[in-house]
Amino acid sequence: MDPDELLSVAREAALEGARTAMSWWGGELLVEEKAGPDDLVSQADRDTERVIRSVLARHRPDDGVLGEEDGATTGTGGVRWIVDPVDGTTSYLYGRSDWAVSVAAADAADGRLLAGVVVEPVTGRVTEARAGGGTSADGRPVRRLARRDLSRALVELNLGRPPQRVLAGRVVDALVPRVRDVRRGGSAAAALARVATGRADAVWAPGLQPWDCAAGVLLVQEAGGTTGDLDGPAPGTWPASGDVLAAAGPLWTALREVLAPVWASGPA
Ligand code: IPD
Ligand code: CA
Ligand code: CA
Repeated sequence: MDPDELLSVAREAALEGARTAMSWWGGELLVEEKAGPDDLVSQADRDTERVIRSVLARHRPDDGVLGEEDGATTGTGGVRWIVDPVDGTTSYLYGRSDWAVSVAAADAADGRLLAGVVVEPVTGRVTEARAGGGTSADGRPVRRLARRDLSRALVELNLGRPPQRVLAGRVVDALVPRVRDVRRGGSAAAALARVATGRADAVWAPGLQPWDCAAGVLLVQEAGGTTGDLDGPAPGTWPASGDVLAAAGPLWTALREVLAPVWASGPA
C-alpha cells in the first residue's frame, strides 16, 4: 500500500465528487427524510457517491468501500475507502456553503488511517493528508496547529445524535464564558478541515459516523493536532464512539476538562 498512490486516488475521487455535487447544487432536487427531518438525502448525495465509487473502482478494484448512501462492500485489496459524498446535506439543500466531500483510505485490517481528502466545493478548498506525510491545503503544507489557550480558542460545535442534543445547551453554557467564541457549521468534515488549516482552533462534534470524520481526523492529526473522544486520544484513527474532539494537544486537554463533566451529566 503506497500512501502517495492512495492519496492521489482519494484526491481524484473527491474532486470528481465535488464537481458532481456542484452540478446539482441549487437545482430542483428530490429530497427524502431518512431517520427523521434532520436526516436528509437527495439525488445529489446518491449521484456523487456513485461517481466517487466509480473512480475508486477504476484505480483500486479490489478494495472495500464504506459509503454513507450505498453501504459497505468488502474487498481483498487491504484498503477500505470511507466516503461521505455530501457531508452537510442540510446546508447543501438550503443552498448554504458549509458542506464538503470527504474521502479517506484506511487499512482494512486495523482501521489505521492512510490518506484523506476533504473538498469544500463552494470555496474550492482542498485539504489533504497521508499518514506520516503532513497535511496540505490547496497544494501547500499547513502550519502545525499552535493554539494552546482556551480563552483564545474559536470552537466549532456540532450538536450530536438526537439523544445527545439535550446536552447542547449545557455544552454551550460551559464553553461560551471560557473560549473566544463558538461556531455551529453544518459539516463535521469541513469543521475538521478548518481546524487543520487554522480557520478554527477546535471541534467538538459528538455522534459522528466514520464517513463524517475519517478524512478530517487524519487532516488534524497530520497537522500536529490531537483527536479522540472524551475518554482519550485515538492516534492514527477515529474514536469508535464517534464523539470527536480535535485541537492542538494542550487545548485538547483543556477542552476535555470542560466538556467531560457536562457530557457525564446527562443522557448520551
Ligand atoms: C452530518 C454532518 C453534521 C453532523 C451530523 C452528520 P450529513 O452529516 O456531518 O455536521 O453534525 O451528525 O450526520 O448527514 O450531512 O452527511
Ligand atoms: Ca455526513
Ligand atoms: Ca452525507
